Amino acid sequence: MKYNIALLAGDGIGPEVINEAVKVSDAIAKKFNHQITWTPALTGACAIDAVGVPYPDDTHDICMAADAVLFGAIGHPKYDNDPSATVRPEQGLLLMRKKLGLFANVRPTFTFPSLIDNSPLKKERIEGTDLVFLRELTGGIYFGDKGRLDGGETAFDTCTYTRAEVQRLAKKGFELAMTRTKKLCCVDKANVLETSRLWRETVQAMEKDYPEVTVSYEFVDAVAMRLVQWPNSYDVLITENLFGDILTDEASVISGSMGLMPSASVGEHTSLYEPIHGSYPQATGLNIANPLATVLSAAMMFEDAFGLKAEAEAIRNVVNKSLEHGIVTEDLVAKGAKAYSTSEVGDWLVANL
Ligand code: IPM
Ligand code: MN
Repeated sequence: MKYNIALLAGDGIGPEVINEAVKVSDAIAKKFNHQITWTPALTGACAIDAVGVPYPDDTHDICMAADAVLFGAIGHPKYDNDPSATVRPEQGLLLMRKKLGLFANVRPTFTFPSLIDNSPLKKERIEGTDLVFLRELTGGIYFGDKGRLDGGETAFDTCTYTRAEVQRLAKKGFELAMTRTKKLCCVDKANVLETSRLWRETVQAMEKDYPEVTVSYEFVDAVAMRLVQWPNSYDVLITENLFGDILTDEASVISGSMGLMPSASVGEHTSLYEPIHGSYPQATGLNIANPLATVLSAAMMFEDAFGLKAEAEAIRNVVNKSLEHGIVTEDLVAKGAKAYSTSEVGDWLVANL
């Protein structure tokens, strides 16, 4: 089959980790007789530098026309401490999510047996952890009205959700739960927030359509706690945009490194696949960043966007093998052992597929 993939490397270490995912994807395509066409496009700080906006129309057109988008990272420190900056790289990501209708962010968290001691949590707490967050991605406080009053002395951000927005995200959560252990947790703050009460009411009303799914409703503060106590007690979790942003970063370190966790954003148009880590500016150009989260994002792309399960399995298997052999970048290296570079890890994966 032929696949046309929009390639948005972005900023910082984005181009380096994307490069390895492309190498591995091309090797998989060769092995399984597929043809991939990569169409590069700009987004983030590099797009601001080149054309003045973080998500140019050309880039959007390329994404819309593609079968999938593979994305690296966005962000540059020169914008972080400048509250007066009116154009920011992150706006590119938010605009891209909105314009591509990517309302569901799928973030799995799982452990690798060979890395169990890399986790900041005790082994017996995390063994068997295999959970998935579905974070709502195009609504809530990220996209509500915001501004200043009183000559700048008061600031506000508003959080709004419609029932339809909750329903479409929850539907994906129920459907995903049906393919797994049929447990769904709705994370909210319904003891305080009206939007959370709408979430809870909406999900409760959908329970009758999925009688096999056991739904629990938990407050976000309690979930933050239980995630580090008993992460393996969760399966599928659904939540709103900001809670999901925070909890998925928390969950990402359970595996031992944020550099391992892939993600997908899905919705109305082309789906997007990206590592959950950021642009890691300190490491830019040093060839030290862990490419595995991006490589595993490509595996999600093969499986979910193209329906190619064997191809995805082959990628996951070779990644597991590399971890077992200690072919890892410095974030995962055992004391006294050799750290491999970003491109060496990619080369090893390609050679061992
Ligand atoms: C993420 C990131 C983004 C978010 C930022 C870069 C806008 O943290 O993808 O989780 O907050 O959604
Ligand atoms: Mn985040």
